[in-house]
Formats: sequence, C-alpha cells, structure tokens
Amino acid sequence: MRIKYTKFFLVALASSLCLVIFYSKLKDMTHSQRDLTEMSSVKTATPQKSTTVRKIYKSVTPNKLPPLTISEDFRKDIPKNGAFWNRKLHSLLRHFDIAENQTHKDPRSRFRCRPESFELLQTNIQDVQSYPLLYRDFLKGMECRDPPILIDQHSKCVLEKEKDRIFLLFAIKSTPKHFERRQAIRETWGREGSYDNGVQVRTVFLLGRSSVDDPSLDKLVSLEAQQFQDLLVWDFQDSFLNLTLKEHVFFKWMLDRCPSVSFIFKGDDDVFANTQSILNHLQSLDPTQASSLYTGQIIAEASPLRDPKIKYYVPQSFYEGPYPPYAGGGGFLFSGNLIPSLYHVSFYIPFFPIDDVYTGMCFKALGISSAIHSGFKTFDIREQDRENACVHQDLLLVHKRNPQQTMRLWRNMHSSMLTC
Ligand SMILES: *[C@@H]1O[C@H](CO)[C@@H](O)[C@H](O)[C@H]1NC(C)=O
Ligand SMILES: *[C@@H]1O[C@H](CO)[C@@H](O)[C@H](O)[C@H]1NC(C)=O
Repeated sequence: MRIKYTKFFLVALASSLCLVIFYSKLKDMTHSQRDLTEMSSVKTATPQKSTTVRKIYKSVTPNKLPPLTISEDFRKDIPKNGAFWNRKLHSLLRHFDIAENQTHKDPRSRFRCRPESFELLQTNIQDVQSYPLLYRDFLKGMECRDPPILIDQHSKCVLEKEKDRIFLLFAIKSTPKHFERRQAIRETWGREGSYDNGVQVRTVFLLGRSSVDDPSLDKLVSLEAQQFQDLLVWDFQDSFLNLTLKEHVFFKWMLDRCPSVSFIFKGDDDVFANTQSILNHLQSLDPTQASSLYTGQIIAEASPLRDPKIKYYVPQSFYEGPYPPYAGGGGFLFSGNLIPSLYHVSFYIPFFPIDDVYTGMCFKALGISSAIHSGFKTFDIREQDRENACVHQDLLLVHKRNPQQTMRLWRNMHSSMLTC
C-alpha cells in the first residue's frame, strides 16, 4: 500500500512539474515582451541561458535613450493656459528642464498604470462630468503606456546577411475584425519581399484586442498571425481613442525588433498605396532629407473641433491652442533613424486623443519639420478618377479604398494591357 502510494505521489509530482514547465514556456511565447529590467537580469544571472535568450530576443530596447533636445518652437506653439493637457505638457517639460536634462534620468519610470480615480480627474477638470464616456476612459488610461504584447514577430526585420537592412516597413493600423482589408493589402501594395534595385520591404499590422461588445476573435487572430507572421497584437482595447497608445507601443517595438529600418510608412488599412512610387520617392532623397523625413499630406493651421458629436471632438477644458502641422494619419512616411528620439520625446508629451496630431507634436518637439508631398491624397481624388489606374500611377496614397477596389486598382495598374 505504502509503496503504491509513494509511486502514485511521484508520478503526480512529475506530471505537475511538466505542466508547470509547459505553462511557463507557453507564457514565454505569448507574453514574450519582457520588462527591460527583467530581461537584463535573466541575461546576467544565468549566463548559460543567455544564448537562447539572445537568439529569440535579438535586440532589446536600449538602456539609454538618445540625448534629447525639445525645440523652442514647440514650447512656444503650445500655449500655457488652464486646459488640462496644456498644464500637463508644461509640467512635463519643466521636469525635463530641471531634472532629467541634467541627470539623464530615464523618463520611463515615471509612468505608472494605476487607474486614476475619477475624483482626481474631477479636481483637475471641472467639467469632466460633461465629457463623453469614451473620453473619460481615455483620460483614465493616459498614464498607461506599457501594455504587454500578446503576439510578436521577433524576426520580422532579420535578414539573411546581417549587414543588409530593410528599406521600407509598412506599419498598418488595423483592428481584429478587418481580416479582409489586411488580406487585400498582403496581396497588393503591402506584399513583402524584394523590389526593384533589390530593396527589401516588410509589413506589419498593428492590433489591439477586439472590443468587449464584439465577439472574441482571439483564436482567429492567432491563427492568422501564425499563417502570415505579420500581426502585432497588444493587450489593450483597439479603439479610436487608443490609437496614440498604439503609436507609442509601435515606437517601442521598432526599437526592440527593427532598429535599423531606413523608412517607415505608417497608415490605415483602408488606404491604397502605390508601393513603387513610394520607393522611387524615397530613393530620390538626398542624405539630409533621408535622415529627417516626415512627409505626407500635411495639415497646417488646424485647431480643435468643439462639437461633441464629431469623432475628433476635443473639449475646451482639455486642450486649448492650435495643432502643429501634422501629416494626415491615413498614411505618411518618416525616417527610421528618428525612432529612438520619437520614443524618447513621447515621454514628455502627454497622450492626445487624436493620434496623427500627437505624431505631429512629437516631430515638432524634435525640431523636424514636415514636408508636403502632393502625392498623398488622404481626402481622396475627384470622383470620376477613383477607378482610373493611370491617375493612380503618379500618386503615393489615396484614402479611402475598400478591399475590392484595392484589388481591382492593383490588377489594372500592373496589367500589361494598360496604356496611360
Ligand atoms: C540641457 O543640457 C544641456 C547640456 O547637457 C545644456 O546645454 C542645455 O542648456 C540644457 N537645457 C536646459 C533647458 O536646461
Ligand atoms: C484603451 O485600452 C484600455 C486597456 O484595454 C481600456 O481600459 C480603455 O478603456 C481603452 N480606452 C478607450 C478610450 O477605448
């Protein structure tokens, strides 16, 4: 009896150990984005493990962010007044000037994700009760900047020859339910591989989680990620007001996984891009332009819309002042070498509810001016030209096209029978 019992106990112990190991492996795979400090302690504490660690996590966010100067123009353009965001910004800038500029202290540690109580918001924004519900959700999450990544693509930017680099990375904002749009992009302008002159192009889709009101697509998304290896999924709700968060985590991901991409196209999944025109334009830039590029359809002299029914509504007590010139978020291009600075400066700019305005602020703060390119048509072109392949040959981007239009346009543009 006793022997039998011990045997049983041993078997049970062994199998639970296996389960524990299995689950920890599984967790490693899904929550693969580890905290920076955790990562480095793994490396130093268990050197025998470090080769496998290094193999999977080819590069990690550098410990030191690059030196940062925040432009005077930006400081002057955003007025100091009583609005919540303006106050928050200037308080962060003071932090930078007084402490962090001298000590090179890492700004990352300041952000802690604790649900700010409604009371705290009420103290700082008198009329917060009148804000739309989603807006209040946005406010509560303003300090939450480090959601875990659920699906990663570790080797997206690993090339056969280590000295080669990716020339262009398409980073497309998408949401779980937009499978059809992603598929159209994969089959047309977002096709990965080698283009004319041997330049390498890669594509990633940036996703959050589906809304709690939608049926869960987690299983399908995970299958899709396995099949195409181009999905990045973070653990936050995919919504319009969370797009700035998506931008921020994308910068971080770039530092981790793709630090030496030459150019990035960031855009929506309902646009049509002319990949060859984009590549031609990028290859025509001189070195100065190429290292500080921020181009697209530039929206200058815009200011907040005050109608609560509009998607882009910004309450007066939240932000007051003009917007810096910014590239329409439907699609724009910028230099990959700006990523470390963009990531760094974004810690001194509070999250803004409109992501492309936020991006414009980050570039402005770095002193990078936006360059207008007339080939970006984020407000579309004349109705009669919308199916005309010839007209699209000279453009870099149009918004918006559905998957069927995208497929048709692409086919026609690449047909040998097309004469323009
Ligand atoms: C930041 O530090 C640099 C030197 O590290 C200095 O030249 C500059 O004046 C400082 N800026 C501010 C605003 O203190
Ligand atoms: C953003 O994502 C967080 C985390 O999932 C969620 O709690 C919050 O409600 C989202 N915000 C909006 C405005 O959707």
